[in-house]
Amino acid sequence: MNLKNRNLISISDYSKEEYMHILKLAAEFERQPVQNIAEGKVVATLFFEPSTRTRLSFESAACRMGAKVIGFSDASNSSTAKGESLADTIRTVSCYADIIVMRHPLEGAARVASEVATVPVINAGDGANQHPTQCMLDLYSILTTQGTLDNLDIALVGDLKYGRTVHSLVEAMCNFNTTFHLISPESLKLPSIVKMHIKKHNLKYYQYSEIPEAINKVDILYVTRVQRERFLDIQDYEKVKNSYVLDRSMLTNVKSNMKILHPLPRVNEIATNVDSTEQAYYFQQAQNGVYVRQALIAAILGLK
Ligand code: CP
Repeated sequence: MNLKNRNLISISDYSKEEYMHILKLAAEFERQPVQNIAEGKVVATLFFEPSTRTRLSFESAACRMGAKVIGFSDASNSSTAKGESLADTIRTVSCYADIIVMRHPLEGAARVASEVATVPVINAGDGANQHPTQCMLDLYSILTTQGTLDNLDIALVGDLKYGRTVHSLVEAMCNFNTTFHLISPESLKLPSIVKMHIKKHNLKYYQYSEIPEAINKVDILYVTRVQRERFLDIQDYEKVKNSYVLDRSMLTNVKSNMKILHPLPRVNEIATNVDSTEQAYYFQQAQNGVYVRQALIAAILGLK
């Protein structure tokens, strides 16, 4: 499988076979994380929005393969602050790096960047749209904990409207005969355009307003934060910000294989008393991000 020079902007840019190939490579990196195969390569991480996991795991991935990292984590320290366009920034950084990893608050910004870049672009999150590399590490985490991606019941909890990780994951899991359990406040339901993927694949989905209605039926409980930064009116955020708090007392009758995922950061939607339960998998999930991002960098640079 050859993914050299491929952009990754939306999860649907890659076929099921292509992201299964990335998961296979990620498993190799999990077994042997330090592989000096990218010496002399430069990875640019351009973060126009805050990040802990995505930026640092990409940078960790690059370092573990011997690549060097350039970039910024605060666009106010870049020439964007002087009025430079995104297109000009990307054209310029293309001269300095072999691959660009970019997060931007505007939906579609990563696609625009890929159209002007002369090196491959990886979308590290564009507004409320897509987060394809998070999706791949979510798939890796589901596969690792369940032993399969096929025929699972997955609950998606919280901000299904603005949660870009949810949008990417639903699209990908439509390839695996998933049954979806969608738990959200009325105002944060999964957008119709994402539901269309489920309908197109003739898959089942159920909608709920409370976690206990679905928690005992599912293999994966994928919890998300209410995305404060996407609300135009802060009053609307205040109304829904505490809609869900998963507490360990809610885990008494769950399936024996059930695992809790969360893309993180969490605010208060998972109580810290859940962290020590056998169901909690969200910190291992974050660690899986390094292996998956090593796999992506290696494949896109043509090193694997
Ligand atoms: N999951 C995720 O995207 O986390 P960060 O915002 O910390 O990168």
